[in-house]
Amino acid sequence: MNKITIKDKTFRTLIPYEDISAAIDKVADRINEDFKNSEVPPVLLCVLNGSIMYMGELMKRLNFNCQIVSTKLTSYEGTSTTGKVKQALGLTADVAGRKVIIVEDIVDTGNTIVALKQILADAGAEQSYVCTLLHKPEAYKQDVPLDYVAINIPNKFIVGFGLDYDELGRNYKDIYILDE
Ligand code: IMP
Ligand code: MG
Repeated sequence: MNKITIKDKTFRTLIPYEDISAAIDKVADRINEDFKNSEVPPVLLCVLNGSIMYMGELMKRLNFNCQIVSTKLTSYEGTSTTGKVKQALGLTADVAGRKVIIVEDIVDTGNTIVALKQILADAGAEQSYVCTLLHKPEAYKQDVPLDYVAINIPNKFIVGFGLDYDELGRNYKDIYILDE
């Protein structure tokens, strides 16, 4: 599909699934290399709901033992950030002493990543890493290094591949940009 309509907005294709898949292949290769000798299985942290599709694609490419833990944070209303991050669901398992790979759909301002890193430090994680499918470098306001970025995009609102507009649009396998 070239265009989709969600509520009052129309979106056009920005990144087709084939390109997303190829970018995930590359990131998975790097993570496999970096974590292949882990003594304690690393934790993959799924940040609900946006990361669901990326997590599914990424985890099937990983060839070391790993555990899935989830949490839910919210900061967006409609097409813009509120600047405040709320934890809507706590960590679903103990991560004390574990290496945690945060799996995010997108890093925009970076507020969510900073909040997550603090939550993980407070929970006693040994170390945390950021693994994001998408990144908007122009919107990023933090010093936290992003360990694994699959695709950089312009500072525009997008949906699809897990990302939503008012909770809709997560199911589309391509990524769409607002058609202005
Ligand atoms: P940050 O805290 O500003 O980095 O925003 C992170 C969260 O905002 C992401 O995990 C997404 O859930 C949401 N978000 C940021 N940009 C977009 C977008 O373009 N479309 C949909 N959701 C977005
Ligand atoms: Mg998210």
